[in-house]
Amino acid sequence: MKREDIERVYAELKELQCKTQKEVEEARVRFLGKKGEITALFEEFRTVDKDMKREFGRTLNELKNTAQEAIDRLREAVGFESASEGPKQDLTMPGDPMELGSRHPVSIVRQEIVDIFRKFGYDVAEGPEIEDDYHVFEALNFPPNHPARDMQDTFFVSVGHPNPLLLRTHTSSVQVRTMERMKNPPIRVICPGRVFRNEAISARAHCIFHQVEGLYIDENVSFADLKQAILLFAREMFGPETEIRMRPSYFPFTEPSAEVDVSCNICHGKGCNICKGSGWLEILGCGMVDPNVLKASGIDPEKYSGFAFGMGLERIAMLKWRVNDLRHYFENDMRFLQEFSTAVEV
Ligand code: DAH
Repeated sequence: MKREDIERVYAELKELQCKTQKEVEEARVRFLGKKGEITALFEEFRTVDKDMKREFGRTLNELKNTAQEAIDRLREAVGFESASEGPKQDLTMPGDPMELGSRHPVSIVRQEIVDIFRKFGYDVAEGPEIEDDYHVFEALNFPPNHPARDMQDTFFVSVGHPNPLLLRTHTSSVQVRTMERMKNPPIRVICPGRVFRNEAISARAHCIFHQVEGLYIDENVSFADLKQAILLFAREMFGPETEIRMRPSYFPFTEPSAEVDVSCNICHGKGCNICKGSGWLEILGCGMVDPNVLKASGIDPEKYSGFAFGMGLERIAMLKWRVNDLRHYFENDMRFLQEFSTAVEV
């Protein structure tokens, strides 16, 4: 074995050029294959004199590594011209499963409600989550010492100001903003959004939840219109057999006010543990917009009247899917959320 043989292979490696993967493979066989040039040198190495073995051995190994690196580099550089040339793939392997996300149940319910009211001709309106006292309370006819204004219920962002900033406790504030913005009826909006209350977290209460507010103002809007709108909504939402019942109630911003129950869609009025045996489920509050509220936002109560309603999304979602603990909606437990993956509507 001569030094020149090694030098010659080095020179050939240096000149090596390949245009396709096939050529790279041929080069690999030529140098490193079973009958390749470098393999042959290794064969020859066995016959080298003992005292030369160390040096030749090292040089040969270096040559082999250089050749391997050159081939690897060419393989990278040439790229694949067709799929059949590419790295071997086992087409019988099972595919990588693709994780499908799903809508959150509260989003599903919000979308359903928005879709129903869009059909009735309502637009969607939004307002800020950090609001001021005026839009959450004052303009909605809350008297100065109403308990809802208490720190117990409301998260204040700033205090000691005549119109402090706070986290809105209901989406009724968006009513006010919409009336201020639109000024001229007819006004028909629904306002979905997040609301905040200083409540201890339990199966039935949370400090953050979602509401949808509705508002309709026009000439000659009556309580009968309100009742009809709610009945149509309830039937779209809970099924065509659904009945509603209205109970007198009180809200500062509506007069008269009512709370609405729907017939229990689980026991169909017979009485079960969801409706606590009554056959009815409470779903929303509503009423005729108080003239003071219209006036505060610059709408003439002599000319116009309207109705408003507000409902909690988590509550509707709980009734719809018979979920008995509100906290499930906030904890992002995948086992819970994945239950809704088939509920995705496209
Ligand atoms: N804002 C009320 C609440 O947070 C819900 C509500 C009741 C809204 C009656 C209304 C309404 O617009 O007319 O509990």
